[in-house]
Amino acid sequence: MGDTDQVLALMQAYAARNHVPIISQDGRLLLQAVAAATQPASVLEIGTAIGYSTLLLAANMAPNGRIITLEKDEGRIAVAKQFLAAAGVSTPVTMIAGDAGEIIPRLAGTFDLVFIDAAKGQYLDYLYKVMDKLSPEAVVIADNVLFRGWVLDEQAAPRRFRTIIKRLKAYLDFVTNDLRFKTTIQPIGDGMAVSYYQGETKQ
Ligand SMILES: C[S@@+](CC[C@H](N)C(=O)[O-])C[C@H]1O[C@@H](n2cnc3c(N)ncnc32)[C@H](O)[C@@H]1O
Repeated sequence: MGDTDQVLALMQAYAARNHVPIISQDGRLLLQAVAAATQPASVLEIGTAIGYSTLLLAANMAPNGRIITLEKDEGRIAVAKQFLAAAGVSTPVTMIAGDAGEIIPRLAGTFDLVFIDAAKGQYLDYLYKVMDKLSPEAVVIADNVLFRGWVLDEQAAPRRFRTIIKRLKAYLDFVTNDLRFKTTIQPIGDGMAVSYYQGETKQ
């Protein structure tokens, strides 16, 4: 994957030009660090966009690993496929088009790392649906959990975002209070939660 950095730079330029949201540069460092430290063999990404974080994960996970990534926008999937091909990604990446909430229950196998970065109001639903597919010691990373700081200061948020904010709070409440997870919330980028699964016995 010698071209990874070059392709990442092209993707950043494309995302900026076409207003595609991708992980922040600070978030990128955290995602890379967690993937490199945990070496997942099996990754589920929820929210592919143009494959920027997919490429970061592929470059930092176990060499014999595989990625399943979910995206509702077929146009973005087509772009992501082109970028991953240009980067020469050898990790098998399965891109599935459609609504993540409908797809997750149908997925087979287990996941060592789950990256949640799709509809912010659905994070807890995604997590509930993937719980029985987490491998022991899996890690779940969720991006944008502080949503422009409004999750910590709801009164400052425009009314139209209140439902999303309540749902992000519910996600954070769950991963910080449920004994099956040990979670740190990082105030970087738009806020990232890193939750280490402790297994079902801790419930
Ligand atoms: C923030 S972007 C993902 C960025 C990507 N993870 C990265 O950092 O390069 C969120 C993506 O989730 C997709 N999305 C939103 N709701 C979705 C859903 N219900 N099912 C699948 N994809 C969804 C959007 O189309 C968008 O491309």
